[in-house]
Amino acid sequence: MREFILISNHGQTSGNFNDLMQAGRLDIVIHSIINAFFVSNNMREDTIFHLILNGPPDPPRHIEFIYDSEMPISKKDVGNLLKSVLWKYKQGKKIKAFPGIFVEKKSFQALIKELVESGKKNFYLLDKRGKDISNIGLKENPIFILGDHEGIPKNNKKFIKRYTKEVFSLGRTNYFTSQCITILNYLVDKNGNN
Ligand SMILES: C[S@@+](CC[C@H](N)C(=O)[O-])C[C@H]1O[C@@H](n2cnc3c(N)ncnc32)[C@H](O)[C@@H]1O
Repeated sequence: MREFILISNHGQTSGNFNDLMQAGRLDIVIHSIINAFFVSNNMREDTIFHLILNGPPDPPRHIEFIYDSEMPISKKDVGNLLKSVLWKYKQGKKIKAFPGIFVEKKSFQALIKELVESGKKNFYLLDKRGKDISNIGLKENPIFILGDHEGIPKNNKKFIKRYTKEVFSLGRTNYFTSQCITILNYLVDKNGNN
């Protein structure tokens, strides 16, 4: 299994948007979901994608995508799927919006604590200024943490350091988040340790 956590600093937390860019750069989110799950003529079955939306009107939201053959996802229309998921949110509950897709009010830090309590530990923070990832053997069941166009907020960078010292760089190029996900998927595929 491989997991991705994307922190969207301004991604809108209600479903009433028409323009993905205007809605706190949800275009970055959509591209990232597509790159996490889709390969040519197929979907990755060994993938979990956590989206943290920290934008208005009611942050945070945690949307969890766990591969499910019934998941109603099409790469042509992830935006409308995200809208429907946000509309299905109910206060105080973790809602199964669709097969494999869950929505709740949960912060990045609360998510990390929950993952740690469930026994997960192989966190990798992705930052251009980290150690070169190509020299490091990835551990089993890696969990990659990525930011959006503004990067990972400082308080969350500091927080995750309680759980991992692993800050990794994909080199000096500043990639799109979605491009990082493709590279990371390639590295996990190559390692064969997912
Ligand atoms: C467009 S970048 C963010 C740029 C932002 N201005 C910053 O300084 O963090 C989006 C995310 O992709 C990841 N990223 C981009 N390029 C990377 C690289 N060369 N190595 C590691 N992670 C990278 C980071 O997680 C980053 O938060």
